[in-house]
Amino acid sequence: MCGIVGYLGPRDPKEVIINGLKKLEYRGYDSAGVAIFDGPSVKRIRAEGKLKNLELCLMNEKFSGHLGIGHTRWATHGVPSVRNAHPHQAGGISLVHNGIIENYLEIREELLKRKADITSDTDSELVAHLISEEVEKSKDLFQSVKNVLARLRGAFSILVIWDQEPDRLLAFKDGPPLVVGLGEKETFVVSDVQAALQYTKKFIYLDDRQIVSVKGTQLDIFDAEGNAVAQKIQELNWSSEQVEKQGYSHFMLKEIYEQPMAVSAAMAPHIDSETHAIRLAKVGFGKSSHDVETLDVAEDWKNTQKVLSEIERIVIVACGTSYYSGLVGKYYFEQLARIPVEVDVASEYRYRKPVILPKTLLITISQSGETADTLAAIRMAKEMGATTLSICNVKNSTIDREAHGHLYMNSGPEIGVASTKAFTSTLTVLNCLSLALGKIKGKLSAKAEQEQTQALLKLPSQMEVALAYDKYFSDAAEELKKFKGFLYLGRGVSYPIALEGALKLKELAYYHAEGYAAGEMKHGPLALIDENMAVVVVAPSDDLLEKTVSNLEEAKARGGKIISVGSGDNHRLKSVSSRYLPMPVAHWSTNPVISVVPLQLMAFHLANSLGHDVDQPRNLAKSVTVE
Ligand code: G6P
Repeated sequence: MCGIVGYLGPRDPKEVIINGLKKLEYRGYDSAGVAIFDGPSVKRIRAEGKLKNLELCLMNEKFSGHLGIGHTRWATHGVPSVRNAHPHQAGGISLVHNGIIENYLEIREELLKRKADITSDTDSELVAHLISEEVEKSKDLFQSVKNVLARLRGAFSILVIWDQEPDRLLAFKDGPPLVVGLGEKETFVVSDVQAALQYTKKFIYLDDRQIVSVKGTQLDIFDAEGNAVAQKIQELNWSSEQVEKQGYSHFMLKEIYEQPMAVSAAMAPHIDSETHAIRLAKVGFGKSSHDVETLDVAEDWKNTQKVLSEIERIVIVACGTSYYSGLVGKYYFEQLARIPVEVDVASEYRYRKPVILPKTLLITISQSGETADTLAAIRMAKEMGATTLSICNVKNSTIDREAHGHLYMNSGPEIGVASTKAFTSTLTVLNCLSLALGKIKGKLSAKAEQEQTQALLKLPSQMEVALAYDKYFSDAAEELKKFKGFLYLGRGVSYPIALEGALKLKELAYYHAEGYAAGEMKHGPLALIDENMAVVVVAPSDDLLEKTVSNLEEAKARGGKIISVGSGDNHRLKSVSSRYLPMPVAHWSTNPVISVVPLQLMAFHLANSLGHDVDQPRNLAKSVTVE
């Protein structure tokens, strides 16, 4: 949470920082601020609320310097307000912080004893005071930062400038992501590459407990003891256009529409284009994420088969929408590869002292690759001896770097806080992975493999059909708004889709929505049903359809209004439904990818018609880098 940007170079720092913060607003949007050199001093400007408020304050401001830092906040310590907004200042130090300082209470007490003038309720300001005290004595910013880093506990990424050095930016991290962007005689230090993508494609991903020193055009990176470390420069192939709305009203809508393309990109590396056989490409077990691009596909596939042939059970760990994709994955792995699977939310898994048996593959799923709980889970599982495999969208993100093996969603940047295309891409990758495992374990006949890959290859065009419900829900939104609550139902592989549909509605429209296994209706939710409750059911024509329809009859008999997402012209389902949305008839394993699309569109249009900020729903952030 929180986005930070630092810039040192010949451009106008105000413009670079604001442009960068706009790309990071998905990380937090309750206040924002900048501190930029103007002549020999540092001018700080902060505003409560979204970034546009800060932009208004900055409209007539000019800065003559070439160094500055900026921040967009998601409040942890202290309410959203100008007082608590970053940058924080103490003495000549200005600082922005993403994360949490766990030992802040003890530091605060100590500073108060020394009569420090603390002006906010944040943990971040305290770090500015500590550095200021140090630099007053030593007059050496690097040494001061190094000493303070040794004192901090928690998870943090911090940028620091000092009013005595107008050409020096220092940064350090332990936890939340920080990347250095390298331009012509200019340097960017940002929470996410998106913030600097319009200026450079060259980035260095920092490891924990590293300190960056930028002095003029000289960049140095050190470990916490002050030893210089090698700089591994990565060249990105994302374009800056991909992080724009490109004519869509919202990022979320654009991302919903990008799904056919995104699922194609997710499966493409793993399906042989000539034979349509499954073979996972460039998983790089045992290799660094930085090196996977250079691997030979055939050689790597041999290595992947060797590693996966040893696997006897799978644990999937993730958060939010990524967790729901893991629940779909369980059906894939169990049915296609006959391997037992456990799925858990990372915040539970990491604290429940799980038993990791030998020959376990722990799969983490994370769009951002930075979610704090998921990261902690993978670290723990590694320590306990599991083989780990990450499915990430952001290459070289922390989780990607920590995993033994690497798979990618290939969705392109996802900006909307509510995840859409990363979800459907992940389902596609999980489908490919389970097919590969089934093949390696001898559970998948050549005929079944062909059937499955054909089903996958048809998926993008079937999703196009599902996208046609955009207009349907834009028209239906007014009527749907009248319901007081929404119950989402599904069975089998459609059950996690019901959960995901309910999550989308909660996140965006702020309605009470619950996802339930249709077979559980009689164990409680039936009591909620009346004419004010919409029952949204995901029921493609599979072997569980009859059972689901019986559950719907019971809901209908009690006044519930049924909105059903089915497949083909299914009269039985149509007859119990107030609204019937037929999807293309598809394979059981690709049905979830198609049927989630109308649920995404429904949540989008409901929220939009209520006037909510769809791309930045209240209280949420896209990348949850603190617990
Ligand atoms: C936040 C986002 C969700 C996302 C979840 C997990 O809650 O708002 O959209 O599903 O984090 O994020 P990850 O990056 O680990 O997939």
